[in-house]
Amino acid sequence: MCGIIGYIGKRQAAAILLDGLKRLEYRGYDSAGIATISDKLHMKKDKGKIEEIDRRLNFADMPGTIGIGHTRWATHGEPSQKNAHPHIDNAGKIAVVHNGIIENYEHLRHFLRSNGYSFYSDTDTEVVPNLINYFMRQGHDFEEAVRSTVSRLKGSYALGIVSLDEPDKLIAVRKESPLIIGLGVDEMFIASDVPAVLPYTKRVIVMEDGEMAIVTSVKAIIKRVDSGEIVERKPLEITWTIEMAEKRGYPHFMLKEIHEQPDAVRETLRAAQKELDGLCDMLLNAKRIYLVACGTAYHAALIGKYALAQLAGMSTEVVISSEFQESCMADEGTVLLAISQSGETADTLKAVRVAKANGAKIACLTNVVGSSITRESDLVCHTYAGPEIGVAATKTFSAQVAYLLSLAIRLAEKRSLKSKKELNELAIQLHKIPETILDTLQIVEPKVKDIARRHKDATNFFFIGRGIGYPIAMEGALKLKEIAYIHSEATPAGELKHGPLALIQRGVPVVAVVVPGASYSRMLSNVEEVGARGGEVIALAVEGDVEVGKHVTELIQIPKTHELFTPLTYILPLQLLAYFISVERGLDPDRPRHLAKSVTVE
Ligand code: AGP
Repeated sequence: MCGIIGYIGKRQAAAILLDGLKRLEYRGYDSAGIATISDKLHMKKDKGKIEEIDRRLNFADMPGTIGIGHTRWATHGEPSQKNAHPHIDNAGKIAVVHNGIIENYEHLRHFLRSNGYSFYSDTDTEVVPNLINYFMRQGHDFEEAVRSTVSRLKGSYALGIVSLDEPDKLIAVRKESPLIIGLGVDEMFIASDVPAVLPYTKRVIVMEDGEMAIVTSVKAIIKRVDSGEIVERKPLEITWTIEMAEKRGYPHFMLKEIHEQPDAVRETLRAAQKELDGLCDMLLNAKRIYLVACGTAYHAALIGKYALAQLAGMSTEVVISSEFQESCMADEGTVLLAISQSGETADTLKAVRVAKANGAKIACLTNVVGSSITRESDLVCHTYAGPEIGVAATKTFSAQVAYLLSLAIRLAEKRSLKSKKELNELAIQLHKIPETILDTLQIVEPKVKDIARRHKDATNFFFIGRGIGYPIAMEGALKLKEIAYIHSEATPAGELKHGPLALIQRGVPVVAVVVPGASYSRMLSNVEEVGARGGEVIALAVEGDVEVGKHVTELIQIPKTHELFTPLTYILPLQLLAYFISVERGLDPDRPRHLAKSVTVE
């Protein structure tokens, strides 16, 4: 997804912007560019990877101590040099970088064309610098021209803007697309995301919708776009270290993040205790509860549904965000709990808005403090997994699951459906789970690496599970298709006989998620069923389970936990399997093709 970086200070802007762009790469992009100002406006941009573009264009020779940079993920216009950002006005004095969509750009183009302006790209963004130019020609100063421009834009946008006429300021505007200001000493930054500025400062201000910031090298003044009123906001001290946002010696972010799961779960469980009562009250007063999310977060929500039903006797409906508006009913009695790592996923935000418009109460669970979803919610809950750079979600999944399990236990306490003793024991076990995750990682990693080597050339993979094992299987299949580009399909094991079994033949790998509990013996029959048709069963089962071992090609043994906590341990070999197969196939697991870390368009 598009990423913005801006710098104003005493150092050469281009070098800092280039570094910032590299730190935004994980958002996904197809082109990149930089504009700086010295005695004139300089701009370099192109399609491709940042390093290749830099080799071709050499950003380092761009003079100036103020500038903006951008990584683009195409929405309007194909990836190309002309569509890459920044975009400039016809006079070549104003440069703009943009994340989001300007819905009324055709109307604005028409207006500007009738006033003599020309357009050189297919983007929606190009209207912005030209409209600013238009207003400056009417006598507005830079700030006023930006305000007048923005008040005419419909859609979502985070903007970074510089002007040759006022080269001592950088203007940032935010509406429904993330933007932060990094406060340095005699230098300031704007960025879509914290990791882009972390090497330079840990003090950031998160901009809110409808705000613009006038940023000089020594201060940032935030104003409401509509009223011009100054907004006072204390900076946040970011506790993430630079090292936390870097690979820490691992070859890929994904592997680092898989190994960070004990901490991610520990921190989340610790912090959740304070927030749970508010969320419980909200849910207990609801007539209907929706859990809404996309991708991995959706799988965490399915696990949440299972735990809430099993422990707290509460019924919830889990809906994929992009399907919500077509299929769901929300009213004043509805609570929608939106789960989103980034808090910026457009489909999830849309579901939230639809439900809200119908009177529903909104709670969110997100990993990003100050993200868009937090501003749309009546109640905000956080996972504390730290920044996740790999496109494939790993530690944030575990953090979401841990949070939801904790919620289910607290709700069960409040509803007095289980004995205090039983719930206490569960709570104690859950708080010990970070150690079990650590043990599991150590036990399974060498074995999974070996299995990955043997199955790297498979063209199809099946994942089967029952009960809570099914969403685990779904998440395992998503990881494999996402980063190893292998067709993988998760199916409830009981559904095999209703169709998918026809595809099982000699040599087809089938990952069986065999969790303990009520479904165990039925799952065992499914494992046999697959084995009898020649499928190569790779089974995940509790340590010491001799029964499963009799019917499978590979057995991955997982330390024992309560059935409800198995998602936190069983998911580890599945994440590792996808990771090692991706590496074996010579792919980059951190940057899968066609995918973005945070999907900010519907
Ligand atoms: C997970 O590996 C994917 N990259 C993707 O499915 C992701 O979980 C989904 O886009 C939702 O993102 P969110 O949690 O930031 O809303």
